[in-house]
Amino acid sequence: MTDSVKLNAAGKDLDLKVLSGSVGPDVIDIRKLYAQTGMFTYDPGFTSTASCDSAITYIDGDEGVLLHRGYPIGQLAEKSTFMEVCHLLLNGELPTKDELDKFSYTISRHTMLHEQLATFYRGFRRDAHPMAIMCGVVGALSAFYQDSADITDPQQRMIASHRLIAKMPTIAAMAYKYSIGQPFMSPKNNLSYTGNFLQMTFGVPAEEYVVNPVVERAMDRIFILHADHEQNASTSTVRLAGSSGANPFACIAAGIACLWGPAHGGANEAALNMLREIGTVDRIPEYIARAKDKNDPFRLMGFGHRVYKNYDPRATVMQQTVREVLGELGVTDPVFDVAIALEEMALSDPYFIEKKLFPNVDFYSGVILSAIGFPTTMFTALFALARTVGWVAQWNEMISDPEQKIGRPRQLYTGPTQRDFVPLADRT
Ligand code: CMC
Repeated sequence: MTDSVKLNAAGKDLDLKVLSGSVGPDVIDIRKLYAQTGMFTYDPGFTSTASCDSAITYIDGDEGVLLHRGYPIGQLAEKSTFMEVCHLLLNGELPTKDELDKFSYTISRHTMLHEQLATFYRGFRRDAHPMAIMCGVVGALSAFYQDSADITDPQQRMIASHRLIAKMPTIAAMAYKYSIGQPFMSPKNNLSYTGNFLQMTFGVPAEEYVVNPVVERAMDRIFILHADHEQNASTSTVRLAGSSGANPFACIAAGIACLWGPAHGGANEAALNMLREIGTVDRIPEYIARAKDKNDPFRLMGFGHRVYKNYDPRATVMQQTVREVLGELGVTDPVFDVAIALEEMALSDPYFIEKKLFPNVDFYSGVILSAIGFPTTMFTALFALARTVGWVAQWNEMISDPEQKIGRPRQLYTGPTQRDFVPLADRT
């Protein structure tokens, strides 16, 4: 381990401090670089840049390790519940029994939406994508909760965080109900967080909804697997939006917008659509060839990751969960056979081996969600629901950091140099 690195820039010798985290690569502290050399660093896509320090989540992409507050994701997915993981991410520790009861109670007491928000839904087209609705409705929450708008008060921040975690299932379920023309279902506080979400999504007022425990457990595990993922695009968006002191609900709406893209949260929807399009195992080689063709924009959705250059540990749990859910529901989906065969073929292909492209969390999640009964358009909304706790945990961490500054990247300008204005009549 070194304390500093030497850099010769603009004719000056600089000693740049090296900072060490509790685990993971050291980072070079370049905060004084511009002041001392008049130069910036250039790193589009942040492939070599840490934008903050954080004590929430650790990823070792080469080894396929994902830890939340130190706990491996595999152990959390197997032994914990989403409510416990929410407490862990938000408060730093797994809850005691009393703390868990209190936390779950608090969350369950914030699940209802203001009645006026129901009218807000009616402004959307019936065929609106649920992510469009989620962006709009979550942003609109900022107009309803003035009592949690003072972000300098830790207690108000926590109330806003609890509200967001609690209301997100209601908001997502209502987006679904609206799209199929069914009445909105009220939350039921005697159900678990996940059971309640299933009830609000698949229940109807005319019948008593019975939660299937295998589906409930699978869904809860999917929520755990998506709860946080350090400084990914949507989390960085939430941090950047929040760094200006913006309203928390508006910041989370910004995160939802970022998550929607097919390179990020939208990949689960795109992956299942791709598996359906492939349809049969004999057509896989054609799609693998397309993914390898530089002149074809097609990529294998659910494959590859900016950080994981090994099997995504979340994909391992997902693959086990698919078998459980399909078995329990008695679903035989040919898409699962296509997924298994595609994974096998891609992982033995030199292109994918050399580029270290492995299945990511989204490769199998679509198969499970589809078996449970969700339409593909809901997949990313479920990701947003689960990631909300990560977003609010990271937002809280940022706001409470005494060194926090507004996020303001610099640029390498390549446009015209200064020139004089030309009146319209003189332009050719
Ligand atoms: N299929 C075919 N080739 C790929 C794929 C893929 N899925 N992913 C990356 N590559 C190739 C890419 O063409 C490039 O090749 P070359 O070096 O010859 O130009 C090389 O691998 C590196 O790719 P990159 O785009 O520079 O890598 P990145 O770190 O910028 O992108 C990624 C990461 C996730 C956007 C990308 O792998 C991808 O588009 N995957 C498909 C979408 C997907 O599944 N996204 C979900 C990510 S996990 C959920 C989440 O965290 O949001």
